[in-house]
Amino acid sequence: PWDERHAADIIHRHLHLEGPTLPILHALQEAFGCVPDEAVPMIADALNLSRAEIHGVVTFYHDFRHEPAGRHVIKVCRAEACQSLGAEKTATALLERLGIGWGETTADGNVTVEAIYCLGLCACAPAALIDGDPVGRLDGARLAAAVEEVRW
Ligand code: FES
Repeated sequence: PWDERHAADIIHRHLHLEGPTLPILHALQEAFGCVPDEAVPMIADALNLSRAEIHGVVTFYHDFRHEPAGRHVIKVCRAEACQSLGAEKTATALLERLGIGWGETTADGNVTVEAIYCLGLCACAPAALIDGDPVGRLDGARLAAAVEEVRW
């Protein structure tokens, strides 16, 4: 849960760093499972930056979340090599089956599906990370099986 004092503490602990924005965002996500919207103005004030600037950094890096992830996180590669081998179609089918969009979590909190842009696994494209484990040569059946395996 959101804890303003804890967030303020995290921000202040990183202020001495050169280029503190990313370390602060990572530390907040570590603590809260996401970068809570409430933290953005606090970071902006502490660093003397605008809220828009902080918001820009949060949205630029796909690693930062606005809401805590589900129990399982599937990161599907949407970069070129994977796209050209059908990653998009496979991912769309998965999202439809789960009833969510990119970056969203199923209503039961079990699965979050996120995009990632090249895992360095282009040779076994299409590729994904399922709870951090690389999975290659994804097709619909393989992805569905992997999801079922982690799902409960
Ligand atoms: Fe998907 Fe490189 S493009 S792993």
